[in-house]
Amino acid sequence: MMTDGRTMVLGLMGDPVEHTLSPLIHNTFSETDGINAVYEAFHVKRGDTGNAVKGGFSLGIQGFNVTVPHKEDVIPYLSDIDPAAKKIGAVNTLVRTEKGYKGYNTDYLGIMRQIRECGFNIENEDVVMIGAGGAANACFAALISLGVSKVYILNRSVEKAVEKFGRKEKAVILPLDGFSDIPGEGLFCLQCTSVGLSPDIDRAPVSDGSFYRKIDRAIDIIYNPAETLFMKKVRERGGRAENGLHMLLYQAVISYGLFTGHEPGEEAVKNAERALYEKTYT
Ligand code: ATR
Repeated sequence: MMTDGRTMVLGLMGDPVEHTLSPLIHNTFSETDGINAVYEAFHVKRGDTGNAVKGGFSLGIQGFNVTVPHKEDVIPYLSDIDPAAKKIGAVNTLVRTEKGYKGYNTDYLGIMRQIRECGFNIENEDVVMIGAGGAANACFAALISLGVSKVYILNRSVEKAVEKFGRKEKAVILPLDGFSDIPGEGLFCLQCTSVGLSPDIDRAPVSDGSFYRKIDRAIDIIYNPAETLFMKKVRERGGRAENGLHMLLYQAVISYGLFTGHEPGEEAVKNAERALYEKTYT
């Protein structure tokens, strides 16, 4: 990739960033679509968020993705914030404006897009979400935006879930083993804990097999391994389950559109998907 004086510079700020797949995705978009842009990973330590934002602006950087531990800390340093990101309380995309960076949350849009593309129509349904950690904010916002009627939130620590979601109108909070209080069957479940992530592949957030009788469609936000134990349990009961690789891809598609004013084309998205599969599963 050749850069010159006109190259648009994009990047990720996070800690750690060693294993990020974002440069692979964004640089594949630029290469395929012939956009003069480059995307780098910047290692920014906790507490240094403000300096990184100010420095990035002075250096003319067009946009950033923001990951752990900066998604909330970055908010005071923005010149503007998208209302949805404000409501979620977390930002993963910064787009340069004249005065500073405007913050967006494309994580929740990526989750919505994946749920839709899977053909899972969850409007007016009661759904299950497992987890109340960092990823849960965007997951919950996506479910609400898709028009679900109720979200049963299962979490190991009930207090943490109550603190975060207790005041949300459609949330019902239960401990992990409290799933028998969820009425009905054939439910959609969004798994947003870190349980089952490689190398810890022999664990699922809920181990009791009777839970999986209630679930017939599921998405695990984990994408490594390709099939988590959670997904395997759903599939063994005859349900459909997908991993979170497409969420990662779609949030990047939406961020790239905001950075450049140009959503990557179909071929660019396919190339990035292929590159992601190769890097992650071969
Ligand atoms: P984050 O930085 O996103 O908060 P985390 O601490 O790994 O990351 O937690 C993410 C989610 O995974 C949380 O819902 C967490 O449950 P708690 O709120 O009770 O901490 C859940 N989680 C992590 N490890 C777990 C485990 N061993 N069993 C069950 N849930 C777990």
